[in-house]
Amino acid sequence: MSAEFEIASPLPGAAFGATLRLAKSIAEDLPGGLPEALADAGGLLLIPGLNQIAAEPELLLRLSRLFGPEIEDYRYLLTSQHLVHESVPEIFLVTNMVPNYRPPPLRPEPPLTVDGKFPVQYPQRKGWHTDQSYRRPPPDISLFFAVNPVARERGQTLFASGTLAYDALPAALKAKVENLQGLHAQPGTGRGRGDAEAGKTPRAFAPHERSQPQPVVRTHPVTGRKALYLCERGQMDWFDGPFVGLQPGPYGDGAKLLDELMSHYTRPEFVYVHEWTQGDVLVWDNRCLVHTATWYDADKEQRMMWRTTVRGNPGAIYAGEEKSWIPRKEPVTA
Ligand SMILES: [Fe+2]
Repeated sequence: MSAEFEIASPLPGAAFGATLRLAKSIAEDLPGGLPEALADAGGLLLIPGLNQIAAEPELLLRLSRLFGPEIEDYRYLLTSQHLVHESVPEIFLVTNMVPNYRPPPLRPEPPLTVDGKFPVQYPQRKGWHTDQSYRRPPPDISLFFAVNPVARERGQTLFASGTLAYDALPAALKAKVENLQGLHAQPGTGRGRGDAEAGKTPRAFAPHERSQPQPVVRTHPVTGRKALYLCERGQMDWFDGPFVGLQPGPYGDGAKLLDELMSHYTRPEFVYVHEWTQGDVLVWDNRCLVHTATWYDADKEQRMMWRTTVRGNPGAIYAGEEKSWIPRKEPVTA
């Protein structure tokens, strides 16, 4: 409890995260201590009641700047410009509203677990990822604001704690992954598991588009705690990976290990399911969590969410690295 906010942890039904209620409007006063609260909460904060951001999008940017030195400007992202907010280019639009249409994920198959529950665990639940892990250095933190969420029990966002999952790994598996690297690929570029299973031949990548190795076990630069750092079907490289130095492809030893690790990572006791309310902001730490989205009826419901991405403190192993995703000019020779 501080004069500036009240905090309650963990998040309902989860073993991590916190709800943080601000004492004042963020237009009036930006509170101190939010990065520390995020670290203490294991990397996930829910800040409800920030409806004012919808009319003043700049406020989301100001809030984001509390969490790190650099906010991604999506005009320079290698993605479609129609997904960028028209007046604040640091806001990425996640929506099914035209002209920014992006379809929601499919429903799990089967839709419920064998004991009739909402499925969260991989592989029944798919799409688990950490934002932009196909870049080095990867980003630190994402903020996600609900301008217009869909009705409850769909269009949720699910989070799994890589810290809790790492701590609970059997000793033999911990030893196996300690110095292992995953190979992360940008979704939709033809290197996903589905592409490999279909026997497609990936196109040649320019240097700035290439898949990037990342440690499977990442030490958090703020808390010093170890966490699993992995994605699955769409965001690993299934041609040369998913792991550096293990048998590649969708049927090899690497695939077996990835399936085992992601199934463990997303066990229900490590997961939080967020049901969105208009005005919610979720702040999550990509260095120690994975997340995924759930289905909603895109023909009947309209969803509009705004995301910002904060970078600048990836940890010592990335010290001095140039951004992998920026094309380099060829050196001029006389
Ligand atoms: Fe994401």
